[in-house]
Amino acid sequence: MKIGIGCDHAGLELKLEIISVLKDRGVECVDYGTNGPQSVDYPDFGERVSVAVGSGEIDRGILICGTGIGMSIVANKFPGIRASLCNDLFAARMSRLHNDANILVMGGRVIGKDLAKEIVKVWFSTDFEAGRHTNRLGKIVTIEGKIRGKGHGAGTAQEC
Ligand code: RB5
Repeated sequence: MKIGIGCDHAGLELKLEIISVLKDRGVECVDYGTNGPQSVDYPDFGERVSVAVGSGEIDRGILICGTGIGMSIVANKFPGIRASLCNDLFAARMSRLHNDANILVMGGRVIGKDLAKEIVKVWFSTDFEAGRHTNRLGKIVTIEGKIRGKGHGAGTAQEC
Protein backbone atom coordinates (compact mmCIF):
# COMPACT_ATOMS: atom_id res chain seq x y z
CA MET A 1 0.00 0.00 0.00
CA LYS A 2 1.29 3.43 -0.99
CA ILE A 3 0.51 6.16 1.51
CA GLY A 4 0.64 9.93 0.98
CA ILE A 5 1.01 12.31 3.89
CA GLY A 6 0.61 16.06 4.15
CA CYS A 7 0.39 18.71 6.83
CA ASP A 8 0.54 22.41 7.58
CA HIS A 9 3.00 24.03 10.00
CA ALA A 10 0.85 22.99 12.98
CA GLY A 11 1.02 19.36 11.92
CA LEU A 12 4.66 19.16 10.86
CA GLU A 13 6.11 17.74 14.07
CA LEU A 14 3.53 14.97 14.23
CA LYS A 15 3.86 14.25 10.50
CA LEU A 16 7.59 13.65 10.90
CA GLU A 17 6.88 11.20 13.74
CA ILE A 18 4.35 9.32 11.63
CA ILE A 19 6.65 9.19 8.60
CA SER A 20 9.35 7.74 10.80
CA VAL A 21 6.97 5.00 12.01
CA LEU A 22 5.81 4.21 8.46
CA LYS A 23 9.38 4.00 7.19
CA ASP A 24 10.40 1.72 10.07
CA ARG A 25 7.59 -0.61 9.02
CA GLY A 26 8.70 -0.53 5.38
CA VAL A 27 5.55 1.24 4.19
CA GLU A 28 5.86 3.10 0.88
CA CYS A 29 5.23 6.75 1.69
CA VAL A 30 5.03 9.99 -0.30
CA ASP A 31 5.42 13.36 1.44
CA TYR A 32 3.27 16.15 -0.01
CA GLY A 33 4.62 18.86 2.35
CA THR A 34 4.80 21.20 4.08
CA ASN A 35 8.36 20.67 5.23
CA GLY A 36 9.27 23.82 7.10
CA PRO A 37 8.07 25.63 10.22
CA GLN A 38 6.82 28.67 8.30
CA SER A 39 3.11 29.38 8.51
CA VAL A 40 1.30 27.94 5.48
CA ASP A 41 -2.29 27.40 4.43
CA TYR A 42 -3.68 23.93 5.15
CA PRO A 43 -5.96 23.85 2.04
CA ASP A 44 -2.87 23.76 -0.22
CA PHE A 45 -1.61 20.54 1.32
CA GLY A 46 -5.01 18.99 1.90
CA GLU A 47 -5.69 19.44 -1.80
CA ARG A 48 -2.50 17.68 -2.86
CA VAL A 49 -3.11 14.56 -0.83
CA SER A 50 -6.82 14.43 -1.66
CA VAL A 51 -6.21 14.68 -5.40
CA ALA A 52 -3.52 12.02 -5.17
CA VAL A 53 -5.91 9.62 -3.41
CA GLY A 54 -8.78 10.47 -5.76
CA SER A 55 -6.64 9.85 -8.84
CA GLY A 56 -5.20 6.58 -7.52
CA GLU A 57 -1.66 7.97 -7.40
CA ILE A 58 -1.62 6.77 -3.78
CA ASP A 59 -3.87 4.26 -2.01
CA ARG A 60 -4.61 6.20 1.15
CA GLY A 61 -3.67 9.48 2.77
CA ILE A 62 -2.88 11.04 6.11
CA LEU A 63 -3.45 14.75 6.75
CA ILE A 64 -2.44 16.67 9.85
CA CYS A 65 -3.16 20.27 10.82
CA GLY A 66 -3.61 21.90 14.23
CA THR A 67 -7.05 20.52 15.03
CA GLY A 68 -7.61 18.29 12.00
CA ILE A 69 -10.77 20.23 11.27
CA GLY A 70 -9.49 22.36 8.40
CA MET A 71 -7.88 19.42 6.64
CA SER A 72 -11.10 17.41 7.02
CA ILE A 73 -13.17 20.17 5.48
CA VAL A 74 -10.80 20.47 2.53
CA ALA A 75 -10.37 16.76 1.87
CA ASN A 76 -14.09 16.01 1.89
CA LYS A 77 -14.64 18.52 -0.94
CA PHE A 78 -13.04 16.06 -3.35
CA PRO A 79 -15.01 13.32 -5.11
CA GLY A 80 -14.14 9.85 -3.87
CA ILE A 81 -12.58 11.13 -0.68
CA ARG A 82 -13.87 9.87 2.65
CA ALA A 83 -11.71 11.73 5.14
CA SER A 84 -12.16 10.95 8.82
CA LEU A 85 -11.00 13.16 11.66
CA CYS A 86 -9.76 10.67 14.22
CA ASN A 87 -8.29 12.03 17.40
CA ASP A 88 -9.24 8.86 19.29
CA LEU A 89 -9.02 5.11 18.73
CA PHE A 90 -12.77 4.48 18.53
CA ALA A 91 -13.19 6.96 15.68
CA ALA A 92 -10.19 5.43 13.92
CA ARG A 93 -11.69 1.95 14.08
CA MET A 94 -15.24 2.96 13.16
CA SER A 95 -14.18 5.18 10.27
CA ARG A 96 -12.64 2.14 8.62
CA LEU A 97 -15.34 -0.40 9.58
CA HIS A 98 -18.36 1.69 8.59
CA ASN A 99 -17.10 4.48 6.33
CA ASP A 100 -14.20 2.87 4.48
CA ALA A 101 -12.33 6.12 5.12
CA ASN A 102 -9.47 6.65 2.72
CA ILE A 103 -7.85 9.65 4.38
CA LEU A 104 -6.98 9.73 8.08
CA VAL A 105 -6.95 13.23 9.58
CA MET A 106 -5.46 14.11 12.95
CA GLY A 107 -4.92 17.26 14.98
CA GLY A 108 -1.27 17.85 15.79
CA ARG A 109 -2.25 20.31 18.53
CA VAL A 110 -4.87 17.97 19.98
CA ILE A 111 -3.20 14.59 20.47
CA GLY A 112 0.23 13.40 21.51
CA LYS A 113 2.53 11.41 19.30
CA ASP A 114 2.02 8.09 21.11
CA LEU A 115 -1.76 8.21 20.70
CA ALA A 116 -1.33 9.30 17.08
CA LYS A 117 0.86 6.29 16.39
CA GLU A 118 -1.78 3.97 17.89
CA ILE A 119 -4.47 5.65 15.78
CA VAL A 120 -2.41 5.09 12.64
CA LYS A 121 -1.87 1.45 13.59
CA VAL A 122 -5.59 0.83 14.18
CA TRP A 123 -6.71 2.79 11.11
CA PHE A 124 -4.45 0.87 8.74
CA SER A 125 -5.16 -2.55 10.25
CA THR A 126 -8.98 -2.31 10.24
CA ASP A 127 -10.87 -3.45 7.16
CA PHE A 128 -14.16 -2.08 5.82
CA GLU A 129 -17.08 -4.15 7.10
CA ALA A 130 -19.04 -3.76 3.82
CA GLY A 131 -22.59 -5.24 4.10
CA ARG A 132 -25.18 -2.54 4.82
CA HIS A 133 -22.46 0.12 4.73
CA THR A 134 -21.75 -0.47 1.04
CA ASN A 135 -25.17 0.84 0.05
CA ARG A 136 -24.61 3.96 2.15
CA LEU A 137 -21.30 4.67 0.48
CA GLY A 138 -23.07 4.23 -2.85
CA LYS A 139 -25.42 7.03 -1.86
CA ILE A 140 -22.45 9.29 -1.25
CA VAL A 141 -21.21 8.51 -4.76
CA THR A 142 -24.66 9.42 -6.08
CA ILE A 143 -24.51 12.75 -4.28
CA GLU A 144 -21.06 13.40 -5.71
CA GLY A 145 -22.44 12.70 -9.16
CA LYS A 146 -24.80 15.64 -8.72
CA ILE A 147 -21.96 17.99 -7.93
CA ARG A 148 -19.90 19.32 -10.76
CA GLY A 149 -16.13 19.35 -10.00
CA LYS A 150 -13.07 20.80 -11.65
CA GLY A 151 -9.85 18.96 -12.57
CA HIS A 152 -6.97 19.28 -10.15
CA GLY A 153 -3.29 18.40 -10.23
CA ALA A 154 -1.63 16.75 -7.26
CA GLY A 155 1.34 19.16 -7.43
CA THR A 156 4.84 18.33 -6.35
CA ALA A 157 5.74 15.50 -4.02
CA GLN A 158 8.79 13.62 -2.87
CA GLU A 159 9.44 10.02 -1.85
CA CYS A 160 10.00 9.70 1.87
C1 RB5 B 1 -3.25 26.88 11.87
O1 RB5 B 1 -3.03 27.87 12.82
C2 RB5 B 1 -4.57 26.17 12.17
O2 RB5 B 1 -5.63 27.03 11.95
C3 RB5 B 1 -4.69 24.93 11.31
O3 RB5 B 1 -3.60 24.10 11.53
C4 RB5 B 1 -5.91 24.05 11.54
O4 RB5 B 1 -6.06 23.76 12.88
C5 RB5 B 1 -7.14 24.50 10.90
O5 RB5 B 1 -8.18 23.84 10.97
